[in-house]
Amino acid sequence: MAEAARIVLDAAKVPLEYVHGDIGWEFWCKEGDAFPQRTIELLKGVDAALFGAITSKPVKAAEAELSPELRGKGLTYRSPIVRMRQLFDLYICLRPCKAYEGNPLNYKEGLDLVMFRENTEDLYSGVEFSPVPKEVAQVLGAQSKAFAPFANLEGGQYAVSCKINTRRGSERIVRAAFDFARKHGRKKVTVIHKANVVRASDGLFLEAAREVAKDYPEVQFDEANVDAIMMWLLKNPFNYDVLVAPNLYGDIASDLCAQMVGGLGFGCSGNIGEKLAVFEPTHGSAPKYAGQYKVNPIATILAAKMMLEWLGETDAAARVERVVAAVIREQKVRTYDMGGTSTTLDMARAIAGKM
Ligand code: IPM
Ligand code: MG
Repeated sequence: MAEAARIVLDAAKVPLEYVHGDIGWEFWCKEGDAFPQRTIELLKGVDAALFGAITSKPVKAAEAELSPELRGKGLTYRSPIVRMRQLFDLYICLRPCKAYEGNPLNYKEGLDLVMFRENTEDLYSGVEFSPVPKEVAQVLGAQSKAFAPFANLEGGQYAVSCKINTRRGSERIVRAAFDFARKHGRKKVTVIHKANVVRASDGLFLEAAREVAKDYPEVQFDEANVDAIMMWLLKNPFNYDVLVAPNLYGDIASDLCAQMVGGLGFGCSGNIGEKLAVFEPTHGSAPKYAGQYKVNPIATILAAKMMLEWLGETDAAARVERVVAAVIREQKVRTYDMGGTSTTLDMARAIAGKM
């Protein structure tokens, strides 16, 4: 995928210097670390990064694939992209979902949604217990009546994942969404939550959103429960414009939005902080297609386009987008997901060729 993006970036003739960083499943298996320290150091010295799709697996499945000499050493797998977002405070996950005209995979022509997903907190905080230590159970029991049904369980019989949302974290993602709306003349920002049930953490998120919204009187503010908006987005997608959500709901809603504009072959995202931004396709690595040059590189190419924008190369970014749109519209080059037989590199070269 990175290869395909590079073909297009080279054709865009932007004077960038590229360095390669090791990351992903391969390094977990070989070194016990999917995000080696040398890559962390490398990222400290770059302006932006393009992150190829990688695999993430649950803890036990990951341990089983470690090379034998690394097993039993207490190494635990954590998704490198999640770590990267936290380590570099890449608090904005920006996911534009635009239906390019003529894409046979569009749910509806003309859709143009933008997701702002909080990217460092919430259920992704990484504060988790399995088994649950006695001390944790004691505190929970003492502090919350609702803990009673769990209080007599053995630590290994249940698990706890903390959903931690901060006021600062909630405010800044909502502000990012409203700033975007203001800058791009967008009419409405919808905050996604479940504050009726998850009263503490989502309650805080919603309250922060209402506060921030007051600073943007020209942008309409809207609230939706996460379950309901899954239906409404499908039913009336044109009622929505900019969406903002805590981490997990944003993760889930992103895939729905991506599917409405062609699926994961078209979903691109930016993980954006104050100093660094890392761009990636929204999809995973599709291991069943690995190395076959079958998958659609447009998501990665659009991620590269977002990277150019972030780097201030707005003309080049606009050119990449125009060409991608033209190639989609013409329907001559289509990867398997679009109903064609073109390869990853055919698509990349078709785009590069028009630059
Ligand atoms: C995404 C992905 C990641 C996430 C995975 C790969 C850890 O689904 O970027 O949406 O859950 O954030
Ligand atoms: Mg996801």
